[in-house]
Amino acid sequence: MINWRVFQIEETPSTNILAKCGRPGDVFCADFQTAGRGRLDHKWLSTKGKNLMMSVVLDVSGNDPHEVATFPLVVGLAVITALKRYALDLKLKWPNDILASDKKLAGILCERNNDSLIAGIGVNILERSFPAEIAARATSLAILGAKTAICDVRDSILEEISRYYEIWSKDGFRSLWKHFVAIDYLKGREVQIFEQDDALPAAAGICSGIQENGTLLVNNVQIWAGEAHVKLG
Ligand code: BTN
Repeated sequence: MINWRVFQIEETPSTNILAKCGRPGDVFCADFQTAGRGRLDHKWLSTKGKNLMMSVVLDVSGNDPHEVATFPLVVGLAVITALKRYALDLKLKWPNDILASDKKLAGILCERNNDSLIAGIGVNILERSFPAEIAARATSLAILGAKTAICDVRDSILEEISRYYEIWSKDGFRSLWKHFVAIDYLKGREVQIFEQDDALPAAAGICSGIQENGTLLVNNVQIWAGEAHVKLG
């Protein structure tokens, strides 16, 4: 198991930025981020003291680069496994959104930093109202009826990351793939995949889901990275 060293910070621009100075096993948590970041340069908004904002540093120096590309999915699996203690009907919307009853409960931003991978994780825990632009799409553990402390959620997630990191390092993504079948939100849905915000879709059609090599298959195109938009019925 990983011996985590947890640093709790009151305020920082972004825990992912702080984590760039960290060592494997370091965990940076903040009560507030002044410039919280999401994927594709989106902002991550979170009220002070209400939610989990943390970045963990993992050593990926000994792993094959293709395997490293699958690790963000493994972080998603770890977060879902941990959050199952507090909420039902959790799904992973490829690549890294955690949905509860179709609304976003958590997001993950993984970034490579030399020999390390920084996994930035934001989980809505005590938040009860969201900014207008995300209100219809966001939820929190409190809204879902779970009463829990931020540090308990943090510890549950760290336990699951440690467990899955060991399995993944030893046996690879394929050995974990079976877990994704039950949590894959996009499989069977009509989607468009974008590699950048304002680009044309890289693929479109019915999604065949996350594959054993860690790609998303859409219309016979294997996708390694991007964002998925689901076509509404
Ligand atoms: C996304 O859904 O687009 C990813 C959101 C990731 C948010 C977390 S909060 C902790 C860490 N620090 C950041 O600036 N971002 C991640």
